[in-house]
Amino acid sequence: MVKLGGYINYMREEINNIKNGAIAQIMSAKDVAELDSIKTAYLGRKGKLNLIIKKLKDLPEDEKKQTGILINEAKDTLIEQIINKKNTFRESVRKWYDPTVPGIEPALGNQHLITQAIDEISAIFTQIGFVRVRYPEAEWDWFAFESLNMPPDHPARDEWETFFIETPSHPKYGKMVLTPHTSNGQIREMQRVGNPPAGGPPIRMINIAKCYRRQSDLTHSQMFHQFEGLVVDKDINITHLKGTIDYFAKKYYGEKAVSRIRPFHFQFTEPSFEVDFSCIHCHGRARLSNGQRCKFCKSGWHEVGGAGMVHPNVLRAGGINPNKYTGFAFGWGVERVRLLKSGTTINDVRNLYSSDLRLLTQY
Ligand code: DAH
Repeated sequence: MVKLGGYINYMREEINNIKNGAIAQIMSAKDVAELDSIKTAYLGRKGKLNLIIKKLKDLPEDEKKQTGILINEAKDTLIEQIINKKNTFRESVRKWYDPTVPGIEPALGNQHLITQAIDEISAIFTQIGFVRVRYPEAEWDWFAFESLNMPPDHPARDEWETFFIETPSHPKYGKMVLTPHTSNGQIREMQRVGNPPAGGPPIRMINIAKCYRRQSDLTHSQMFHQFEGLVVDKDINITHLKGTIDYFAKKYYGEKAVSRIRPFHFQFTEPSFEVDFSCIHCHGRARLSNGQRCKFCKSGWHEVGGAGMVHPNVLRAGGINPNKYTGFAFGWGVERVRLLKSGTTINDVRNLYSSDLRLLTQY
């Protein structure tokens, strides 16, 4: 309680006047910003209430103390009033909330289109009994080349512009490389399944992985992806290979899609083929339905990669008896099959890995 007497009466009146003036302003304030400026004007460091404190210095100690108490009471009242008034604004905002107005959708990230393609490809093959595997991307030369019928110094190796890793060579497997293709997975998988009675074929493998080559231009990025299929069992022949390729074409590109195989040469398959899929725009006719030439393919077909019947030397290198088992294999580029599916060209394939959202959010 405040004892009244002398100068304190005068101070009490002044404080009350200030307080009432402030309350009147608070009551008629129209928004939060106005309340904030009232708060500064009265309660701020240089606000009206704090300025009174300066007048106290000549008062006796007792009166000083009591005036201080009055000032603090006034401050508490004003703070409470300001808070109450602010809450009334919040309530009126709440009243205006219109639940029928569509919300603002937060931006969501999405998977990279190559990750999406890998998932899709892997689902297509696992549906017909293939098992998805992963093998090292830093691999010994023997698995990447030699076991695939390409001894050191073989000229065919030049096509795989290989990155070598500076590590001591393995006494049996040679230098270490970054996988220039996914075909190393063939030997790794044959070794994994082993031989009867403990293991052995059938093998139905799909190896999807990063590959690396010393080639960088509009149509090549130094890192890219391939998917490698391998089937080894008794009596596997080319019709199984062609059937699998056609199955993939239809599942991935749609029922109208067909494939064709053309004779080619790879060291690790005999016979070997290049594999083409029909163009999604003209379906192999090279002409659109309006009679115009299809600009996307020019020939009706797109090459996606290689395939063939596994060479007996490769089966042997994997520890499998070529007199008992035969197999087929294929290896195609993920970027290539994915871009053909979208029916558009990309002017620089390296943009896929540039993290440019303008491109990536289109897929
Ligand atoms: N490894 C080959 C390449 O990178 C593609 C390939 C061709 C894979 C024929 C195969 C195959 O499995 O049988 O160009």
